[in-house]
Amino acid sequence: MSACAPALSAAALDRADPLAPWRDEFFLPSGRIYLDGNSLGLLSRPAEAALLRVVEQWRTLGIDGWTGADPAWLTLADRAAAALAPLVGAEPQSIAATGQTTANLHQLLATLFEPARPGRRTLVGDTLNFASDAYALQSHLRQRGLDPAQHLRLIPSRNGRVLRLDDILAAFTDDVQLAVLPAVVFTSGQLLDVATLTRKAHERGILIGFDCSHSIGAVPHAFDRDGVDFAFWCTYKWLNAGPGAAGGLYLNSKHHGRAPGLAGWWGVRPDRRFAMAPQHEPADGAAALHIGTPPILALAPLLGSLELIAAAGGAAALREKSLALTDFLLARIEAELGSFGFTVSTPRGHLARGGHLALAHPDAARICRALKAAGVVPDFRGPDLIRLAPSPLYTRFADCADAISRLRQIMEKRDYEAWASEPGLVP
Ligand SMILES: Cc1ncc(COP(=O)(O)O)c(C=O)c1O
Repeated sequence: MSACAPALSAAALDRADPLAPWRDEFFLPSGRIYLDGNSLGLLSRPAEAALLRVVEQWRTLGIDGWTGADPAWLTLADRAAAALAPLVGAEPQSIAATGQTTANLHQLLATLFEPARPGRRTLVGDTLNFASDAYALQSHLRQRGLDPAQHLRLIPSRNGRVLRLDDILAAFTDDVQLAVLPAVVFTSGQLLDVATLTRKAHERGILIGFDCSHSIGAVPHAFDRDGVDFAFWCTYKWLNAGPGAAGGLYLNSKHHGRAPGLAGWWGVRPDRRFAMAPQHEPADGAAALHIGTPPILALAPLLGSLELIAAAGGAAALREKSLALTDFLLARIEAELGSFGFTVSTPRGHLARGGHLALAHPDAARICRALKAAGVVPDFRGPDLIRLAPSPLYTRFADCADAISRLRQIMEKRDYEAWASEPGLVP
């Protein structure tokens, strides 16, 4: 391949890209190629405008913002739920825009897990998921008087990168009541087969839910169609809603009407919320799982961002571009980095790949620091992974070509050797 071929082909791809105009809606760090959108997505103009609007409403309306703002703050969580619903293939009543990822898992466990069920008191998780999920599972079991050493099973990974279907299914035994798995593994970027796992779990009488922090906004879901029992996610990665923005959860309609495990006044029927009745009167659907006052300042940018995503064509459009970007990155990695000791840890097939790529290298920490100094923002996951996350809304194919070419130069000149190598530090 000639030296200028990749740039030409990247330029052609960028010209043909229907999502290209949306890049102008984002605040891009000056002079840098931002490939960390799976950790913290960038601010967009609509998200900023929505946030500033709420600040202005607070300044001018005070308490009257709850009912008198346009739109009324009272309605923001429900509006966000309606806007999230198409991204996960759900009825809006099955979504609540609330809490954070971990808090939402706690709420779903508290609502769905029945510790007294004879013979089925095991929870299943996995060894690759973000540790907060395992902490939640362990502490939840303890809250219910069960010993995690006995009642929590974490599915192992044979290579420390991906989960195998047969290993997952082997964990779905008769004593399991509920399983929690990542839709996309946060390290390797492996996409699990949500539909098959849900079917297999149900065949064995197991409830199943998914952590979608790394999939929502990168991969379309069809939770209602697939019969998934529950899901939960953050909105600060591919959904670009801002650091600590309101999270989301999904509760399948077959579980609506269950008493919320963690009850609070915002989960009460809207017409009875201010009645302060001694008994909790749950709202319809997943809204019953709200606990306290919605974080209006954290919902506003989410709403602005979701409007942008809908206007850009929604989950299917994002997925098409995302796959094209990671296909392109893979081709550049193969063409330029073949001799430098990198291994791609992300599965190649479209059906098994989320929105980011993970490159393994023994010097990953130092290489990440060198990349950042060279104007590329990657993400390091210890001990040896470089994650490259092109956002379908603001990353160009030319950025991907440029990033890999800068990485090749770093490897050729061994620039990374000048950097410290503490593997635990995120550069
Ligand atoms: C897969 C996954 N699960 C859970 C979390 C924890 O999220 P939160 O801090 O919103 O609870 C994260 C955070 O990045 C994550 O990536």
